[in-house]
Amino acid sequence: MIVLGIETSCDETAVALYDGARGLLANRVFSQTELHRRHGGVVPELASRDHIERLLPMIEGAIADAGLTPQAIDGIAYTAGPGLIGALLVGASVARSLGYAWDVPVVGIHHLEGHLLAPALEPDAPDFPFVALQVSGGHTLLAEVGGVGRYRVLGETLDDAAGEAFDKTAKLLGLDYPGGPALAALAERGRDGKFEFPRPMLDRPGLDFSFSGLKTAVVVAVRGKELDAQARADVARGFENAMVETLVAKSLRALRQTGLSVLVVAGGVGANRRLRDELTRAVAAAGGRVHFPRPEFCTDNAAMIAVAGHHRLEAGEREELPVRARARWPLDELVAPGH
Ligand code: KG4
Ligand code: ZN
Repeated sequence: MIVLGIETSCDETAVALYDGARGLLANRVFSQTELHRRHGGVVPELASRDHIERLLPMIEGAIADAGLTPQAIDGIAYTAGPGLIGALLVGASVARSLGYAWDVPVVGIHHLEGHLLAPALEPDAPDFPFVALQVSGGHTLLAEVGGVGRYRVLGETLDDAAGEAFDKTAKLLGLDYPGGPALAALAERGRDGKFEFPRPMLDRPGLDFSFSGLKTAVVVAVRGKELDAQARADVARGFENAMVETLVAKSLRALRQTGLSVLVVAGGVGANRRLRDELTRAVAAAGGRVHFPRPEFCTDNAAMIAVAGHHRLEAGEREELPVRARARWPLDELVAPGH
């Protein structure tokens, strides 16, 4: 079965073709970073408009990349949420329209399910069950992944996502959006111990995260001060140390708590070199193993949506094509979720 995957939940327009037998046949991603850079963050309206312009040509391009025609496509999977509503609607409308035109089934995928199943795109995919640490600009969570559709959230952020904290701290230090990679580069030149920031929630049991206090501590450290280049690097280092230590400690705790030995790291912050080194070392010392999907499968992409969609479409799941709006709708027709 060949599935067309579509991802438009935030600021990447992504399209992929995945074949259950042959694997990934095409994978295109367009990042809108340049479009949003001068605004210092993602502007939802600009994101939606850009998705509208790019999505159909990218689908044509991906089909050509795979050397296929639309007739070869057996099903469509699109990101149905969570994300920016206008951006999501672009992917949803295109997916549902193409499904109708081509007469193939369509399924809406949860964006995080895509991330959690992304390791399946690698030849050395880890077996279920494993613990996943998802750290990106939009989400931060630890989940136990027992199989497709079998997820248990072990902990998540109560406020900012890890990538968001990197980006906000980078902004405070005068670095360009998205500042995570620039902050990491600056931290390389920083010295340990010059700035000690709090390790959020490490002293408490549980696996939730909170990064707003860490961000505030950085604000307090830099506000009203003329920091020279070395001091800025020291602040970056102090921030990265606190962040890495927190993510490593919680990941180890999650492995201990579940009794599992494999940790999968996904999301843009997973590109952070010190996080990778420290996690690899700490998990190995605890007798486990860390799996890092390659960067293009860690950050937002449609290959992961196509893989998740492939599992669900093969199992017979599909959305009804009519989009329903009802002028009259008795309240007592509603049923509780899951019934
Ligand atoms: O997964 P991703 O590409 O997009 C979503 O948020 O969905 O993650 C982007 C985030 C940004 O916040 C970016 O600053 C951060 O990942 N990031 C990094 C590094 N590379 C990307 N943060 C720290 N160190 C890095 N090397
Ligand atoms: Zn994502």
